[in-house]
Amino acid sequence: MTIQKYTFPQHMDDRGVLVAVEQRKDIPFEVKRVYYMYATPPDVRRGFHAHKTLDQILICVKGSCSILLDDGTEKKTVTLDQPHEGLSVPRHIWHEMYNFSPDAVLLVLASDLYCEDDYLRSYDQFLTFINGE
Ligand code: TYD
Repeated sequence: MTIQKYTFPQHMDDRGVLVAVEQRKDIPFEVKRVYYMYATPPDVRRGFHAHKTLDQILICVKGSCSILLDDGTEKKTVTLDQPHEGLSVPRHIWHEMYNFSPDAVLLVLASDLYCEDDYLRSYDQFLTFINGE
């Protein structure tokens, strides 16, 4: 499994830093939805699903967190702690998010609207789905 990370340009001057992310330019898809998580207690692990068709980019815009990525064969963990870095979580990748720092804000850019039917919420369902592909 190849981990795809994006490093977005930091427009830095004496006023601070500004980062812009443009669809189909800085990331490969059109963004139809943005959501974010914060105030996550340190012992919480969330996610525990994969998607059938959804592609996502995770950006920890404040603080830090860890992401487990699992393609059904191989597992990798990535730490996100840079507000100008994005992690690709494409379709068909089981993912879990954990180790949130108290100040963490995890922003997600998603290629489609929220749709419960797109979720593979059990690991068995995930394996069955990817092995049938
Ligand atoms: P959930 O899928 O449980 O989050 P996670 O995968 O991180 O464990 O989502 C939490 C709640 O938020 C659940 O009630 C569904 C809702 N939700 C939306 O309404 N829209 C969204 O875009 C997302 C991602 C979740």
